[in-house]
Amino acid sequence: MFTTTLAQRDTTQTSALPLDLFAAIADLKKELNAVILAHYYQEPDIQDIADFIGDSLQLAKAAAKTNADAIVFAGVHFMAETAKILNPDKLVLLPDLNAGCSLADSCPAEAFAAFKAAHPNHLVVSYINCSADIKAMSDIICTSSNAVKIVQQIPKEQPIIFAPDRNLGRYVMEQTGRDLVLWEGSCIVHETFSEKKIVQLKVIHPEAEAIAHPECESSVLRHASFIGSTAALLKYCQISPAQEFIVATEPGIIHQMQKLAPSKRFIPAPPQNNCNCNECPFMRLNTLEKLYWAMKNRTPEITMSEDIRLAALRPMQRMLEMSA
Ligand code: 13P
Ligand code: SF4
Repeated sequence: MFTTTLAQRDTTQTSALPLDLFAAIADLKKELNAVILAHYYQEPDIQDIADFIGDSLQLAKAAAKTNADAIVFAGVHFMAETAKILNPDKLVLLPDLNAGCSLADSCPAEAFAAFKAAHPNHLVVSYINCSADIKAMSDIICTSSNAVKIVQQIPKEQPIIFAPDRNLGRYVMEQTGRDLVLWEGSCIVHETFSEKKIVQLKVIHPEAEAIAHPECESSVLRHASFIGSTAALLKYCQISPAQEFIVATEPGIIHQMQKLAPSKRFIPAPPQNNCNCNECPFMRLNTLEKLYWAMKNRTPEITMSEDIRLAALRPMQRMLEMSA
């Protein structure tokens, strides 16, 4: 599915890990003239070593303006691919090439091409959580922080396909009053939250505010007093007078919430089963050790054909212009 070759997946290591990984990564950063970009869902150590932490939009903007020669992307494949789309001449590394995304995988290129053909005259707005192939078939890309704003800028008479996340799509429909044709994709992490357990938590913590990411199902969103991207959730918990929050998104974000609002309490929204399914299994594949090896060996590297890159760049640029 990914365009990177199998040979690049071989991360077998022949030398020992340095004792001080933080110092070794700092040295490699200088050697490569690299920038480390990390999503809020990464493990705390990776967030702490990153040059920049952000949500998908902030990371895309950071990738678009970096002067570094190499980008080490501590996130998932579609995010690193986005960085490569914007920076064809830079080395883009992803610490674990298997760090995919269930949402991106729920929208295969061939099936989406047929869906698009069945809806002629529709403008395609795609959530950034999709492959470069889907981006290449899209007119405008959006993220969870600008989806509403972007759809609002499209003339009312223009029919729109919104892909691949049905929950974000429904949320955008509610916020804009627009009728969107939705691709039925979803994120396994954001669909795991239990409405019943969130309601029980609200009873035990009556002062707590529930806050949620728009990739959650509407049964969860209806209990949230604030809905937004990871960056928006982080900002909201700092400005809200509430002292306790039930956080319905991947709990990696709580590391920054605790740093920025140390006196407040953050309770991860529980999943339906007794599992850690609220942690993204793809994001959590990245570790500090793999980040070190990726920089040391300059692999796994993200590559893609120039045709796909150029086709995917156009809707990315439209997004950046429309959300400037
Ligand atoms: P944002 O980074 O836009 O908040 O999206 C969260 C997410 O699911 C990333 O995979
Ligand atoms: Fe994909 Fe969901 Fe993980 Fe985000 S949290 S990377 S949408 S699987």
